[in-house]
Amino acid sequence: MDSAKQFLTVFGKSLFVLLETLVFTVIPKPRKSVAGEIVLITGAGSGLGRLLALKFARLKAVLVLWDVNKEGNEETCRMVRDEGGTRAYAYTCDCSQKEEVYRVADQVKKEVGDVTILINNAGIVTGKKFLNCPDELMEKSFDVNFKAHLWTYKAFLPAMIANNHGHLVCISSSAGLLGVNGLADYCASKFAAFGFAESIFMELSAQKITGIKTTIVCPFFIKTGMFEGCTTDCPSLLPILEPEYVVRKIVDAILQEKTYLYIPRFIYFMVFLKSILPNKIGLLLVEYMGIFSVMNGFVGKKKN
Ligand SMILES: NC(=O)c1ccc[n+]([C@@H]2O[C@H](COP(=O)([O-])OP(=O)(O)OC[C@H]3O[C@@H](n4cnc5c(N)ncnc54)[C@H](O)[C@@H]3O)[C@@H](O)[C@H]2O)c1
Repeated sequence: MDSAKQFLTVFGKSLFVLLETLVFTVIPKPRKSVAGEIVLITGAGSGLGRLLALKFARLKAVLVLWDVNKEGNEETCRMVRDEGGTRAYAYTCDCSQKEEVYRVADQVKKEVGDVTILINNAGIVTGKKFLNCPDELMEKSFDVNFKAHLWTYKAFLPAMIANNHGHLVCISSSAGLLGVNGLADYCASKFAAFGFAESIFMELSAQKITGIKTTIVCPFFIKTGMFEGCTTDCPSLLPILEPEYVVRKIVDAILQEKTYLYIPRFIYFMVFLKSILPNKIGLLLVEYMGIFSVMNGFVGKKKN
């Protein structure tokens, strides 16, 4: 009897959530205010990080900008101050160095306060086939794209838990959902970042900590220069994305407290197909869509 009651409760609640989701596909979900929130963005010196900073400045958040590239980061800080007239602080920090993350995090806590929105965005790509990729570059991919997330969570999550208030944002990638040839170390690091963010989301949910939200972002290629030279054979389903569009979608997902954001939408379908289709059909489709050759022209970001 007890288990029948439990089942009916779960069924009823699921129906309610389904209904709520349907309503929010017609009427846009209300967006929360981030005015006065302390938003830390790693990799703020260029690309998505810079655009995210500008967007949050317009929303009157307090910005804490981290990047290993001092010049780029300070440039973002100037742009943010000009844009929003908001408080912005630039810190040079190599996120791949655990001790440096802890040291700069302590400095932020003293000088700015407790971070309430943490956006792990810093990332690198080697773009080499596995056997041609030097060990130290593969290790670096993991240090920046994944391990940095461990250290920043260790530094900023305790205060979020104490205040039951916060938002954890993981910029993973569609390469964190689907393996890609020529991107083995990048994919592995992005799968790890995804798995870590989802596991902490589960850990918080199991403890009924409801005030800390999670958003995990998985975009396809974006025109920021990181994947310069890469191509798509299916631009209607898998277009190379405009950075402004991606940032608009990310900020919307944060404000609407969405847990998962895959861009473009076709990525949701690819993940679904991967889990139901026989692997051989999957390979035929990947070949047909030209996915095997997306990395062929890779040149990556030009060094300054
Ligand atoms: N560009 C794409 O096609 C694409 C697609 C999917 C996901 N992503 C992810 O989006 C995020 C942003 O990438 P982007 O396209 O804006 O690239 P980008 O190269 O313009 O920005 C990355 C930033 O991270 C910084 N960074 C690198 N190593 C660092 C370190 N050790 N410590 C601190 N900062 C460091 C860089 O200086 C740079 O400012 C990355 O995590 C990337 O993997 C990018």
